[in-house]
Amino acid sequence: MITIEGITQMRGVSRKAREEGKLIALVPTMGFFHEGHLSLIRKARKVGDLVVVSSFVNPSQFGPGEDYGAYPREPERDRTLAEENGTDVLFSPSIEEMYPQGYSTWVEVEGLTEVLCGRSRPGHFRGVTTVVTKLFHIVQPHYAIFGQKDYQQAQVIKRMVDDLNFDLRILVEPTVREPDGLAMSSRNLYLTPAERKDTVILYPSLLRAQELVQEGERDAGRISDMIRKMIADVERAEIDYVSIVDGENLRPISQLKGKVLIALAVKIGKARLIDNILLSVDE
Ligand code: PAF
Repeated sequence: MITIEGITQMRGVSRKAREEGKLIALVPTMGFFHEGHLSLIRKARKVGDLVVVSSFVNPSQFGPGEDYGAYPREPERDRTLAEENGTDVLFSPSIEEMYPQGYSTWVEVEGLTEVLCGRSRPGHFRGVTTVVTKLFHIVQPHYAIFGQKDYQQAQVIKRMVDDLNFDLRILVEPTVREPDGLAMSSRNLYLTPAERKDTVILYPSLLRAQELVQEGERDAGRISDMIRKMIADVERAEIDYVSIVDGENLRPISQLKGKVLIALAVKIGKARLIDNILLSVDE
């Protein structure tokens, strides 16, 4: 594995790989790897000849007062894990390289970014789509791989790829969970042991929703009320949203039908945790 910091060098490696007819698979990350990231890297290894993992804590996707400064970073450990899991190139550019003095261009997807996390994190997706566009231009991948935990992010990026005619495929891989169901996230690090115990309600609330659907419930209001009640039992949990939306356009629905996303964002202590399940519902 090689580590590259410069954009020009990264472009050179990608150009050569393309000339040799190699398929490039990119896993965009902000580092601090956990099993979720590693599963994306292993997927990249299966589909690509050259596996590029980018590691860049992107300041433009953090709002004022969010955790940009505190975001965990462990580059040495990341390097080892990336290599062990099949990475060929670890691309970790500096902020100056990605956003030089005078930087003033932004990529914005409308609609899909105005719901769910977009409501409480204005500007977040603009930062994501901008940095991902830059990474796509620099790395020139044939595949880019994202996790389902960030379902809205993946939908937004797919929209951008279609709208802006990027010549690549987006792959979305299942959420990786701790044994008790908590979705893996770098932000789980912020949880105190007591708060960590409180998180065990999140995934079961989604699974209970799934059971209700399997039992025939189709009313979105009743299902989201049930999820809210389960989470409200945990004193320290502060619900940002519990939403039941169309799995494609992310618009709220009142009756479940077709591809449905049940998504939640809950603040426990300093950690804002998100999770979701995707269902295919018959009438
Ligand atoms: O999902 C993430 O870690 C980030 O949002 C991404 C896609 C790497 C962009 O900074």
